[in-house]
Amino acid sequence: MHLFKEEVYIKRRNALRSEFKNGILLFIGNQESSFNYPANTYAFRQDSSFLYFFGLDMPNLVGVLDIDQQKDHIFGNDVDMDDIIWMGSQPTMKELGAKVGVENTANLTQLDEFINQTIACGRKIHFLPPYRGEHKLQLTGLLGLQPYKLVNYVSKDLIRAVVKLREIKEAVEIEEIEKAIEIAWEMHTTSIKMAAKPGRVEQEIAGTIEGIALSRGAAVSFPVILSVHGETLHNHHHDNVIEVGQMMVTDAGAETNMHYASDITRTVPVGGKFNDRQKGIYQAVLNANLKAIEAIKPGVEYRIVHFIAAKTLIEGLIEAGVMKGDAQAAVDAEAHTLFMPHGLGHMMGLDVHDLESVGENFVGYDEKTTRSSNFGTAYLRLGKELKPGYVLTVEPGCYFIPALIDQWKSENKLAQFINYDVVETYKDFGGIRIEDDVLVTENGNRVLGKPIPKTIDEIELLMASAI
Ligand code: GLY
Ligand code: MN
Repeated sequence: MHLFKEEVYIKRRNALRSEFKNGILLFIGNQESSFNYPANTYAFRQDSSFLYFFGLDMPNLVGVLDIDQQKDHIFGNDVDMDDIIWMGSQPTMKELGAKVGVENTANLTQLDEFINQTIACGRKIHFLPPYRGEHKLQLTGLLGLQPYKLVNYVSKDLIRAVVKLREIKEAVEIEEIEKAIEIAWEMHTTSIKMAAKPGRVEQEIAGTIEGIALSRGAAVSFPVILSVHGETLHNHHHDNVIEVGQMMVTDAGAETNMHYASDITRTVPVGGKFNDRQKGIYQAVLNANLKAIEAIKPGVEYRIVHFIAAKTLIEGLIEAGVMKGDAQAAVDAEAHTLFMPHGLGHMMGLDVHDLESVGENFVGYDEKTTRSSNFGTAYLRLGKELKPGYVLTVEPGCYFIPALIDQWKSENKLAQFINYDVVETYKDFGGIRIEDDVLVTENGNRVLGKPIPKTIDEIELLMASAI
C-alpha cells in the first residue's frame, strides 16, 4: 500500500476537526463492487475523501472523527484464515491504523454500537453524499434511515469543510499529480506517434495507452476517450479505422499508485500532417488554450477565464470564415456554444473531476459565483475565484456536431455571428480539444508536468519521427 507519512493524515484530520464544535464525522470507505457475479469485482478504488484523511487503500473500512472526544477511529476487520488463503497475509487493523496515526481501531461490528450510542446521546452525525449503492445501504443500516431520505441528512458543513481542505493542494500532492502527468506524457506521445500510421483501429491505440497507465501506476483516471469522431465529447467507442483527413482526439490520464490524477487531451491529424482547414481550427483552439492559461492567477474567476478562451476561439473561427461579426458581441451572445458546448475545465486531484461526488456546485461555485443555466455554459464545472494551490484543467475545444448544427441552422440561431453555409462544409470535420493541467500559484500559474507537444510544428515533428 502506498501512503504519505502519518503526519500528513494527522495534520489533515486536525485541520478538519478545527472546523467543528461537536458531533462525529463519518467517512465510509468503499467496498468491492461486483462486475458480473459477486466474486468477480471491478478493480478496487477507495473513496477519495477516505484516502485523503485516512490513507488506507483497502475495502470495508469506516473512519470516524469524534469531535467531542478528540479521538479518531478506524473500524475494519482483521483478515481471517480464508482471507489469508485467497488474498495473502495482511497487517492487522492496529498496524494499519498506526501507519496513518490512528490509535483507535475496532471491528466493523462495533461500529453499529458506536453509532447507536452517538444517536442515543443526540450527537450530530456528519456524512458526505453517498454515491455508491453499497454506501447508501451501509448508511441506511447504520442510521436507520430510508435510502431516499439520506439526501436530507447529508452534512453541508462537512462538504464545505472537506472542499476547503482538499481544493488547496499540498506540495506532496502536487508531486503526485506531476507523476500522474509524467505517465500521461508517455500515454500521449505514444498515441500521437501511433496516429501517424493510418489504417489502425482506434482500440489498438486506446488499449496501448491504457496499458501504459496500468504498467506505471494504479490505472487510468477515467475511461480513455480516443476517437476520430471527437465531435462526440466523451466518445468511448474505439472501433473506427483511422484515416488521413481525420483529426484524432485523445483525452486520457492516469492515476498514480496514490490515486492522484492527470487529465490531458491532444488532437492530431491522422497521418502526421495538418491540412489547411485543420490548421485553422487547430490554431484557434490552441490560442484559446494559451490565452486561458495566461489569464490564470489568484483572484480571477474561472468563469472569466472561460469567456476569455471562448472569445479567442471565436476570433480564430472568424479568421477561418466559420463565424463573423464582432468577437465580443458574439461571446456575449454565447454564439461559441455551437462549437464549444462545454466548460473550460474542472478541479483535479484525487479525483479527475476533483470532489465531484460531494456536488459540483460546492466545488466549482460559491456564494459569489453562481452557475449559469445557459446552453453550453451550464457545463462549466469550475466558475469561482481562483486561489493559490488549486489544480485545474484548461480544455477548450471546437466541435462540428451535425445534429446541433442542423438544429441551430433550422432556427437561424445567432445567424449574425455564424456563417452557416461555411459551417455546412465542416460537418465531416470531427472535433478538437487541447487540455493541460495547471497549478494556481501565488502570483500566476504553472502548467504542470513535462510538456507534451501541442503546437502544429511540435506535433508534426513528433509524428514524422514515427513514420
Ligand atoms: N477528461 C474528461 C473530462 O474532463 O470530462
Ligand atoms: Mn478534463
